[in-house]
Amino acid sequence: MPPPPGAKSTSRSAAQSSADADRERPIHVAIIMDGNGRWAKARSLPRALGHRSGVNALKRTVEAAPSAGIDRLTVFGFSTENWRRPVAEVTELMGLLKSYVESDLDRLEREGVRVRIIGRRTGLAADVLEIIERAERRTAGNDEFLLQVAFNYGGQADIADAARRLAQAVKAGRLDPDTIDEAAFDRELSTAHTPAPDLIIRTSGEKRLSNFLLWEAAYAELVFQDVLWPDYGPAHLKAAVEEFRRRDRRYGGTGVDDVLATA
Ligand code: FPP
Repeated sequence: MPPPPGAKSTSRSAAQSSADADRERPIHVAIIMDGNGRWAKARSLPRALGHRSGVNALKRTVEAAPSAGIDRLTVFGFSTENWRRPVAEVTELMGLLKSYVESDLDRLEREGVRVRIIGRRTGLAADVLEIIERAERRTAGNDEFLLQVAFNYGGQADIADAARRLAQAVKAGRLDPDTIDEAAFDRELSTAHTPAPDLIIRTSGEKRLSNFLLWEAAYAELVFQDVLWPDYGPAHLKAAVEEFRRRDRRYGGTGVDDVLATA
């Protein structure tokens, strides 16, 4: 059953047989890495140490992803709402993005990983912008694996930005508003270059999307795991993939091949 237009599923009708094989695995997985603060609190440690341990969990997860059949991984590193945290914590998270990229960029580049950072660039310090641009530039030719970090990202902000760009194009006479459909909208999002996630994981037991990939989540399977992010590792990722495989994805249809009605 193909996804509806605009759903950006990884199923590709042109290669149906490979799509059938792919149906069993989540090609694009997105993760809300939650629970760093609680992990630190349980150990009477400062929250910063929870985030630092979260980076180690991220490294383990990136390393384990290809053997779990995953080609693309999007992680939520910093949301547009995280600016509401104390300045010291915001500074810590900015520094962690920078140090993670600085320490791992050579290896990621060598291993064929393409790094992309999605989210608003406004408000980020010059040194953070510099490292983001360096990572994207140096890995631009890679296509083995996509590591996408949502940083200063909000799903609603991304949708608003897309709407503004479409409105500007209409105003400038470059776009006929009657042609704006799901696919046209999709092309304006910061995730336009990649199919939508098949699976979205949230750790820590919370069951919310918290403004993550709102448009792209339309047909994603959601898996909530009761583990704090710094404790996450390959076995948890494998368990989430197995849960995904037990799901029946119907994209609004019945799941039975039949003569299809059209709108
Ligand atoms: C949520 O835990 C986690 C975050 C807001 C940030 C996620 C960041 C990392 C895993 C490390 C940094 C990685 C990059 C690439 C920047 P929380 O602090 O809300 O935990 P809590 O709900 O237990 O308080």
